Amino acid sequence: MRVIETIGGVREAVRAARREGGTVGLVPTMGALHAGHVSLIARSAAECSVTVVSIFVNPIQFTQAEDFERYPRTLEGDVVECRRAGASLVFAPSNQEMYPRPLTTFIEPGPVAEGLCGPFRPGHFRGVATVVAKLFHAVEPGRAYFGEKDAQQLAVIQTMVSDLNMAVEIVPVATVREADGLAMSSRNQRLGAAERKAAPVLYTGLQAALARLEAGEREARVVREAAQEALAREPLVRLEYLDVVDAGTMQPVERVTGPVRVAVAAWLGGVRLIDNVRFEAR
Ligand code: PAJ
Repeated sequence: MRVIETIGGVREAVRAARREGGTVGLVPTMGALHAGHVSLIARSAAECSVTVVSIFVNPIQFTQAEDFERYPRTLEGDVVECRRAGASLVFAPSNQEMYPRPLTTFIEPGPVAEGLCGPFRPGHFRGVATVVAKLFHAVEPGRAYFGEKDAQQLAVIQTMVSDLNMAVEIVPVATVREADGLAMSSRNQRLGAAERKAAPVLYTGLQAALARLEAGEREARVVREAAQEALAREPLVRLEYLDVVDAGTMQPVERVTGPVRVAVAAWLGGVRLIDNVRFEAR
């Protein structure tokens, strides 16, 4: 497995594989890899002849410079994980390689980026969509793998690909969780002991909402209240949002008539966590 640092290098490596008739899979990441990332890589390795894992902490998607600076950077260990999970090559460009001069052209996601995390992280999804478009142009994958853990990000990318006729199939991958239900995230390491113990309540709340939906409840307000009640029992949780949204457009719904996600963001101490579950009304 090779580690390539330049756009020219990755383009060439992948073109050679494509000439031989292979499907190229791309797994975009910011590194600090955990079992969630590994499941994306393993899925791509199972489905594609070549799997590229990109590892790049993308400055233009961070709303605070401080968050960007303290984002964990563990390239050596990540490369070992990638190899173990079946990746063919790691694309690990520098900032200079990705942004040799200040960027002037951006992908501007529409309404799909406006709710949920949108208001709390201004410019975040524009930065995500833009870097993913750059990665798609560098690698030209036939398939790209994204976690359902970041459901709004997934919807932003699906909308971009459809709006701009990008020739890549977006493959959603189920959220990988700890044994107690907490969705895996590089941020979990920053939780204090008490916060870590409290954190699974996010998933407990979502499960309470899901139970209502499965029992036939279709009023979003009632579904939301079920989750809110569970979350309110944990004093360490500061709720940012809890919404029932259309799974494709991410717009809030009043009644559940098609595929939806119940999505939550909350602070535990100084750490912001997100999670969601999907439900399809039949
Ligand atoms: P990052 O947070 O490193 O996540 C990379 C991919 O792993 C994303 O598609 C994310 O949804 C997925 N992922 C994270 N935790 C997961 C879990 N517990 N289960 C399943 N999948 C999980 O998301 C980003 O990086 C960046 O925004 C990026 C798309 C790379 C653009 O910079």
